[in-house]
Amino acid sequence: MTEYRNILVKTEGGVVTVTLNRPNALNALNSELMDELSDAVDGYEADTSLRCMIITGSEKAFAAGADIKEMAGKSFSEAYREDFVTRNWERVSRARKPVIAAVAGFALGGGCELAMMCDFIIAADNAKFGQPEINLGIGPGAGGTQRLTRAVGKAKAMEMCLTGRMIDAAEAERAGLVARVVPLAQLGQEAKVSAERIASQALPALLMVKECVNAASETTLSQGIRFERRLFHALFATVEQKEGMAAFIEKRKPVFDRE
Ligand code: CAA
Repeated sequence: MTEYRNILVKTEGGVVTVTLNRPNALNALNSELMDELSDAVDGYEADTSLRCMIITGSEKAFAAGADIKEMAGKSFSEAYREDFVTRNWERVSRARKPVIAAVAGFALGGGCELAMMCDFIIAADNAKFGQPEINLGIGPGAGGTQRLTRAVGKAKAMEMCLTGRMIDAAEAERAGLVARVVPLAQLGQEAKVSAERIASQALPALLMVKECVNAASETTLSQGIRFERRLFHALFATVEQKEGMAAFIEKRKPVFDRE
């Protein structure tokens, strides 16, 4: 098991939970943490027994953004040469297997962006989402202007990015940013139940669904539907489709093996 200094990783059955763990900095995302998170995602993707990842933080903060103290002195040349953000942040958004964000407390700037890179967000009722980069003389740099706009629409995304206003969990749910809101004390359990439900499903179907839903924001409707139809047809070549449908007809639970 790899030793990490900024994240905690726990595996139970088919679910791996990554807890961001820089409590003194409200889980500010520095490059070491993002390298560790990328490495954990690599491990998750490579392990065929794992079907779902949960990324979470503390009760006070999912993550309060990219680490401002680390970023403050960067020159353009360094940021460009190091491929700042792209080099290690995009790994989460490139995961082929499902990733849930379980968000309590602050999800600001890069923290909000990291949550949006996950497939869906379950929010605790104390969660606060925002893109406050404007207050630092910059704008979002890990996809905030793009993913937030797709999630909540232009008006709210523009307002949040131009003013830095935070929205609470209820507003985030109304706006479509989060899948659902749960009481803070139940966040871990609710995320686990969702993750275990996902982890009990057939891996090819999970991969197909994730790829198709993501295609919706990248293609036209007719291209997206054609893409979905091809993958839908392809799933008839899998043992999991035979097992899933046979189990329904035989009135039993399907068994999808995890190699
Ligand atoms: N980077 C580095 N350190 C941070 C941090 C960040 N993003 N956010 C909080 N911290 C640190 C604080 O400096 C403080 O450390 P010290 O105790 O050593 O002073 C500690 O975490 C606790 O923070 P506060 O005392 O500020 O806690 P608070 O409860 O009073 O306020 C907060 C909470 C409103 C979230 C406030 O910390 C805050 O505004 N944080 C910055 C939020 C922000 O601007 N995020 C965007 C970053 S830029 C970005 O993310 C770019 C991108 O798109 C990739």
